[in-house]
Amino acid sequence: MVTNLLPLRITDLELRRAGRRILGPISLTLEGRGITVVLGPNGSGKTSLLRAMHGLERLSAGRIDWACGEAVARARQAFVFQTPILMRRSVLDCIAYPLVLDGVGRRAARAAARAMADSVGLTGVALDAPASVLSGGERQKMALARALIRQPQILFLDEPCANLDNASTREIETVLLRESARGVRIVMSTHNVGQARRLADEIVFLFAGRLHEAAPAREFFAGPATPEARAHIAGDLPT
Ligand SMILES: Nc1ncnc2c1ncn2[C@@H]1O[C@H](COP(=O)(O)OP(=O)(O)O)[C@@H](O)[C@H]1O
Ligand SMILES: [Mg+2]
Repeated sequence: MVTNLLPLRITDLELRRAGRRILGPISLTLEGRGITVVLGPNGSGKTSLLRAMHGLERLSAGRIDWACGEAVARARQAFVFQTPILMRRSVLDCIAYPLVLDGVGRRAARAAARAMADSVGLTGVALDAPASVLSGGERQKMALARALIRQPQILFLDEPCANLDNASTREIETVLLRESARGVRIVMSTHNVGQARRLADEIVFLFAGRLHEAAPAREFFAGPATPEARAHIAGDLPT
């Protein structure tokens, strides 16, 4: 049976680093389904918020509560970092690695990894080659395959398409929409308004560490609540 991780409740969250408040106070609830896009210019706190949700940041104040226990929630989520961590292994073994850690046999893990590589469009690549030979777009697809291989209920992605060309960006977006349709809850950051328009069911707009707005995407784009959000949509803010 599937345990519900959601809603995720964030209450009065603050992160202070180097004597400065870099995030918050933020209160926010993430509900059941769809794609939440954390949108905002560079330095607005997107990465910090995603990392905090995933349990990677020490909270200076406030709480983050999953509907189920913390340990269960952590085991059922995956995180794709902006710059994929490259292991000194083959592409296939990188993708299979989380399954091997779970105790799945190497053969079965590699078979699953091969299927997952195919499913994220990592085609035309020698899967036995070292991961280090991959292009930027291929690395991001590999990271996505590795994140999906344990069938997470929630997938976090931090600027998954930063520095990628249009073709790779669209391929990754297609995979994200497909996974969302299959029921994977996606929480991702981007500074890219076009990507947010294409993917988001819900927008969480951050500016200078503050939560300006959390709203259904259609509502956000039709009538952003703050001048900063309006300016970001209009492209007036540095990205
Ligand atoms: N560990 C840290 N120590 C000090 N400042 C930090 C730390 N992590 C992030 N920051 C600062 O917090 C702000 C938000 O950063 P970040 O979450 O990376 O924003 P974004 O992902 O939206 O670009 C930035 O000004 C950044 O320099
Ligand atoms: Mg960031």
